[in-house]
Amino acid sequence: MSGIVGYIGGQNAVPILLDTLKRLEYRGYDSTGIAVIQNSALVSRKKVGNIEILKESLRNEPFGGNIGIGHTRWATHGKPTEENAHPHIAGKIAIVHNGIVENYLALKESLLKDGRSFVSETDTEVIAHLIDKYFDPSASSGTGSGLETAVQKAISEISGTYALCVISPSDPDKIVIARNENPIVIGLGRGEFFIASDATAILSYVKDVLFLDDGEVAVIKKEGVQVYDKSSRPAAKNIRRLGLNPIMMEKGGYRHFILKEIFEQPRAIWDTIRGRVSGGDIVFEDFRLEGSEAGRIKKIFITGCGTSWHAGLIGKFMIEGLSRIPVDVDISSELRYRNPIIDSETLLIAISESGETVDTIAALREAKKRGAKTVAICNTVESSLSRESDGKIDIHAGPEISVASTKTFTASLSALYILAVYLAKQRGAIGKSEEAERVKGIIALTGKIEDAMGLEEEIEGLSKIFYEKRGFLYLGRGINYPAALEGAMKMKELAYIYAEGYSGGEMKHGPIALIDENTPVIILAPQNSLYEKSLIDIEEVKARNGVVIVFATEGDTEVAKRARHVLYIPHVPELLTPILYSIPLQFLAYYVALRRGLNVDRPRNLAKSVTVE
Ligand code: G6P
Repeated sequence: MSGIVGYIGGQNAVPILLDTLKRLEYRGYDSTGIAVIQNSALVSRKKVGNIEILKESLRNEPFGGNIGIGHTRWATHGKPTEENAHPHIAGKIAIVHNGIVENYLALKESLLKDGRSFVSETDTEVIAHLIDKYFDPSASSGTGSGLETAVQKAISEISGTYALCVISPSDPDKIVIARNENPIVIGLGRGEFFIASDATAILSYVKDVLFLDDGEVAVIKKEGVQVYDKSSRPAAKNIRRLGLNPIMMEKGGYRHFILKEIFEQPRAIWDTIRGRVSGGDIVFEDFRLEGSEAGRIKKIFITGCGTSWHAGLIGKFMIEGLSRIPVDVDISSELRYRNPIIDSETLLIAISESGETVDTIAALREAKKRGAKTVAICNTVESSLSRESDGKIDIHAGPEISVASTKTFTASLSALYILAVYLAKQRGAIGKSEEAERVKGIIALTGKIEDAMGLEEEIEGLSKIFYEKRGFLYLGRGINYPAALEGAMKMKELAYIYAEGYSGGEMKHGPIALIDENTPVIILAPQNSLYEKSLIDIEEVKARNGVVIVFATEGDTEVAKRARHVLYIPHVPELLTPILYSIPLQFLAYYVALRRGLNVDRPRNLAKSVTVE
């Protein structure tokens, strides 16, 4: 996990490193650190906590240089202490690393036998020592290959994942970077280069970028970049132009990124579907299945982690409901290890906001190995996941800065919905008129989301009543059961309140024991095929003195007779209800967290992009 950055050019690296690190904080914020080459020496500063603490320290005792690297950490090996913070220095080299070295204990043992001593508990310090061990500064002056040769030798001994940046005053005019399964991108300026884990971090500096692929090493000098492949041969790379706009990364007048992102949902959904639903037909630019190919699919697997997994659970209802293809949904960290029955007649749909979640990438690779056709639903254009899949459906929600996902959840659901309609049409399960009607339904949804946003004030009011509760129960049925799971997770992530999402029908088999007058129970009860059953859920909770908060369809008069707190949501077709019903649940978690005085954009212990197992 974690985020890494680097800079080489004519400017002072320090403010640039701090600025780009700030933009990577979503990848973890347990500790931060930078190192630069200043007057032919390595100078570094590391702090526990977020970037502001490091900034403050550098304001008091500044340093500078034209070449530097930086890191913001999500702890894997070793507690968040200054010793464990990056950059790690061994001899004359400094390194920042994102990933996990699986064989670090064996390597450490052998380095200890060589007489080397370690100051941290991290796996990264092992890489630092390995590079230092192989580093021959005298080779640097002759061939200019000192540092990169040492990096190449060191990584050949590592098993695991990494994106890393290395500098040394003994080979002072370059940064050497390498990648295996963790992303790293080089931003191409004029006489200067910016390195980051994610292109959004360097967006305000450059437009053109190079993405490194697995096994590649790059040497970055002021004069230019040279990338080497796995066999150390020069590699030809394509320059990509970024389509993102730096303004999209700002809060735009909202108090928090998450609030801005909740409000962006109508736009995010519209951007996801427009261009794909022209004239009532569904068209995917980077994913096509001809009728015969669609007919050959016997089974679909959907995979993802966290919120993306919840989106997959809802996608199952959409795809099975419309196309009648059986769908299994697996958490990626389970799918990759469970010997799944996947073959060439399987379509794997991998969902990931970042496209960099290591388990999701591994699940995709596993499915490809077994012959499946794969498609990635991602928010990050050019992510590892979308580059590795056979087809891709970018969701165009725009950068999501808040760690907890909101707009990318509903945008992924919209992509899944049009994919479900597309598959159904290609297989002949629905005709042209149903396709057109379904498309009309999702276009109309964006307006109804605006209406659901109108609940914000009412929900803020509810948060006053419930913010001190110790637990919440969320109930939904059918397609809204996963929406209840996602609502509960938002409460856990943002407000640190234990919340359980459950199927309304299953509630009486356990969670009912939790219900008393102190347990708020959120019930999703749209007027759909399971409406009558949801009314039973309301009664059962009330009979145990539970406090019921119901989200119901506008115009429903039955629910009001049964529950004290009822919030009304516009009517939409059943398969679209989770998109709409998720929005008030996002508001609820946000306002409860706010009342509890928590950092809603950066909840503790979480990271947005989880690039470790
Ligand atoms: C982290 C984030 C979650 C996210 C999950 C999957 O745990 O905190 O919000 O849902 O990763 O991320 P992905 O980028 O693959 O959707």
